[in-house]
Amino acid sequence: MRGVEQIPWLYDAMFRVFDAAGVRRWRDALIAKARGRTLEIGCGTGRNLPRYTSAAIGVDPSVDALRAAKKRSPATPMVCASVESLPFRDGAFDTVVSSLVFCSVRDVPRGLGELRRVLAPGGAVRFFEHVRARRPWAGRLQDWLQPAWTWVAGGCHPNRDTERAVREAGFELTLELRESNWRLFEARPR
Ligand SMILES: C[S@@+](CC[C@H](N)C(=O)[O-])C[C@H]1O[C@@H](n2cnc3c(N)ncnc32)[C@H](O)[C@@H]1O
Repeated sequence: MRGVEQIPWLYDAMFRVFDAAGVRRWRDALIAKARGRTLEIGCGTGRNLPRYTSAAIGVDPSVDALRAAKKRSPATPMVCASVESLPFRDGAFDTVVSSLVFCSVRDVPRGLGELRRVLAPGGAVRFFEHVRARRPWAGRLQDWLQPAWTWVAGGCHPNRDTERAVREAGFELTLELRESNWRLFEARPR
């Protein structure tokens, strides 16, 4: 069963609305500080890709999503891969971007380990993610909703504490934007 993340036309129809309703502002802030050799993991249908001013590569495990991304950004190289196993050499990128991806990654510590590995010295990972609610009752509600949510969305977990996972993977975080359960932060290896 494919969820929304694996159905490009549906994902794009939804995010056309979400982007217009405010998500585009987060995308702009996310990309504004990307510099040098840039990798976007989980690029999906490529909604960020045409906006990079630096040389970017898009990676996603969904071939259908990558096809849509290639239409949107024909000049961007695309690679079919998961963040848990990136086909790039150590230290290959100055910036890695994760835009609404770590809610869906199966093996979060392994994925974060791969980000560390492909990051060049002095490089940074830029994250735009929705995260676990801070209020205990709201977090419990997310836990309750998670199985149905993950099924419909095609892998997304609403209750992930991604900031904590990134810290535990040995990164130092700088929070740039925070609103409700949405976060924009930059992470550098400690
Ligand atoms: C919510 S979509 C975000 C798409 C795009 N980054 C955006 O901002 O619109 C999540 C994307 O993460 C991808 N994804 C899921 N698991 C992944 C993994 N283990 N490694 C890399 N990408 C993954 C999905 O295929 C999907 O395209």
